[in-house]
Amino acid sequence: MIILDETFRNWHSRFLQQMAWTEQARDYTYRRVGFATKEHLLEIGCGTGALLHEVWKRFILPRVNSGKRCKLDAIDKDSGMVQKARETMKKAGNEVKIHVGNALSLPHGNSSFDVVFCQYFMLWNQDHIKKKIVDEVYRVLAPGGWFACLGEPDYISAVDKPHGHTLMLIKRSLERAGADLEAGAKLEDLMAPFTRVRIGSASKPWTASEWAEHFDDEWAFLERIMAGGGVDPSKMQAMKRSEQQAIKDGTKESYFPLVYAMGRKSF
Ligand SMILES: C[S@@+](CC[C@H](N)C(=O)[O-])C[C@H]1O[C@@H](n2cnc3c(N)ncnc32)[C@H](O)[C@@H]1O
Repeated sequence: MIILDETFRNWHSRFLQQMAWTEQARDYTYRRVGFATKEHLLEIGCGTGALLHEVWKRFILPRVNSGKRCKLDAIDKDSGMVQKARETMKKAGNEVKIHVGNALSLPHGNSSFDVVFCQYFMLWNQDHIKKKIVDEVYRVLAPGGWFACLGEPDYISAVDKPHGHTLMLIKRSLERAGADLEAGAKLEDLMAPFTRVRIGSASKPWTASEWAEHFDDEWAFLERIMAGGGVDPSKMQAMKRSEQQAIKDGTKESYFPLVYAMGRKSF
């Protein structure tokens, strides 16, 4: 139980950290899609509920408190994640329902939602699955409803100077976990069934000053996910020292592209 709690804290705090990187793009998407005025929303791949909680607090709770109809659903195929998302959302009322299930086959009727959204989700699905999930999203969206992908990585065009150590470790850990590092670059094709499509960059470059602020958290996460992952600990320490030196010298800079996309089902 203690181990489960610890894992929850780790993943949940990581997902909260990741949310900070896409804040501006999320605000833009929320406004363009009109999250504040929609009645029925669904997150696919909700993980521990980091994004779900933000959407509930900003858009669902104020409407419910003012007596308006509003519902938020979420789904994740991992029952452990769903249990944790339910803990995150324990203060929410009946307006929030979190299901265990695969987004490939949503337990909802046709035209049920005004908005379906996801974040750091498509990268965990193979290409032919991604396409099937989009068909499923299209089915459950009402005419005029929106699909919003809030951030997916496109690490093939990533930059990490001067050494590239951090990028190498991130790529290695994601590849080992089976992630698609080009998921962001594939969003344009995936949005083909939708109209009014917008695609853009959800992340910003980091200079040495952002790295100085976030290095300890980022490196602690890398060390945790690389533990037992085939990188010699003394090599890892050497990389850490050279990254810290580059931050001190002001030569450290990086750009890990995250792509957002949104589109509308026609009426
Ligand atoms: C990185 S987490 C997402 C975190 C969450 N979107 C956030 O930003 O707070 C990705 C989640 O997607 C789930 N997932 C991946 N593919 C899925 C699928 N086909 N159906 C349902 N859940 C899926 C995983 O189980 C995992 O919990």
